[in-house]
Amino acid sequence: MKVAIACDHAAFRLKEAIRLHLEEKGVAYHDFGIYDAGEKRDYPYASLYACRAVQSGDCSLGIVLCGTGVGVSMAANKMAGIRAACCGDFFSAKYTRAHNDANVLCMGERVIGEGLALELVDVFLSTPFEGGRHARRVAQIEALERGELE
Ligand code: RB5
Repeated sequence: MKVAIACDHAAFRLKEAIRLHLEEKGVAYHDFGIYDAGEKRDYPYASLYACRAVQSGDCSLGIVLCGTGVGVSMAANKMAGIRAACCGDFFSAKYTRAHNDANVLCMGERVIGEGLALELVDVFLSTPFEGGRHARRVAQIEALERGELE
């Protein structure tokens, strides 16, 4: 598993905390920046760079961060094949993997503390998709994306 991580300027500290956390756990990652607290980046670009790596298969999952987590999730969900979930609680982070097969976790540095964010990262990365009846619903999301859901 390789994880794509990226943030805008409102979430640099949280991205760095997550990067170090992945490092400590021995989880492979690709850091799509930003790389400095003084750097500025509009949040759609954080989604673009990380989600492109998920789309291509270079990374299996993504973690994208902004001030609220909402902007990056809205942008990420415009990209084909991306199922991004903005989470601020443990239950959602777990079940968006188990039931929605979410492939991108979005969080807001101005919303949740670092401790909770790292817990959400761990549960998101370790929870498998359950498939079964949930696969039918994910296929419906994919049909919706293609304009084919009737
Ligand atoms: C940047 O100031 C802020 O608007 C952005 O990080 C995010 O919260 C948008 O959804």
